[in-house]
Amino acid sequence: MQEHTTKSIYNVWSYFYDLFWPKIVRRRTSRAIGQMGIESGQRVLDIGVGTGLALENYPPFAKVIGVDLSEGMLRHAKRRVRQSGMDWIELAVANALELPFDDDQFDHVMLSHVITVVSDPIRLIEETRRVTKPGGQIVIINHFQSSNRMVALVEKWLCPLCQRLGWRSDLPLVDLLRETGLRADFRYKLDHVDLWQTVFMTNAAAEEPRDVVVAA
Ligand SMILES: C[S@@+](CC[C@H](N)C(=O)[O-])C[C@H]1O[C@@H](n2cnc3c(N)ncnc32)[C@H](O)[C@@H]1O
Repeated sequence: MQEHTTKSIYNVWSYFYDLFWPKIVRRRTSRAIGQMGIESGQRVLDIGVGTGLALENYPPFAKVIGVDLSEGMLRHAKRRVRQSGMDWIELAVANALELPFDDDQFDHVMLSHVITVVSDPIRLIEETRRVTKPGGQIVIINHFQSSNRMVALVEKWLCPLCQRLGWRSDLPLVDLLRETGLRADFRYKLDHVDLWQTVFMTNAAAEEPRDVVVAA
């Protein structure tokens, strides 16, 4: 799925996104952002910020920038920022595969439900690492292909349909980590049976992954 198609799909999604997604997104983003340990004055980048469902969780003492490809999604995010008086948050149109930032700019980068939306997940991670300070934190919240072979088959089978809706369902986390050289510091699912994972990584860290399952 190329970026111009994605942009059109999410411009349409922007009218409905907040009807379906807050229940799925908010529980995970609020927990993850609370765990990020953002300190006063630190710079945070939210890539593929969408309608800004996670924005209220960022602390006002941080410098937060959200970028997205879709003007439609961003329009909702901007309204949310305006209505909630979150004037410490900046929003801009940008392609995550060609981020308009210099190297080593951000202490924390959030990729919430975007890694399986972009046309090139590896390139997204490369760009993310480029703009993240060495030792900075990268957090991914996403669905990844199951390690269960039967479930993975179903996910692969569903992929063409998912792509029409704006994401793919067949990206395995292990492949992403192997191909990008990133290591998970820790990762968890909110429930024992959960389609989504939260993965914490350190830019250029090389630690062994630790699996943690946290009950809701
Ligand atoms: C499923 S939504 C997730 C939105 C938000 N992060 C959340 O968790 O609710 C995916 C978002 O990624 C954006 N997106 C997709 N490809 C992108 C790209 N190449 N650059 C920037 N944003 C992109 C879409 O426009 C959409 O707003």
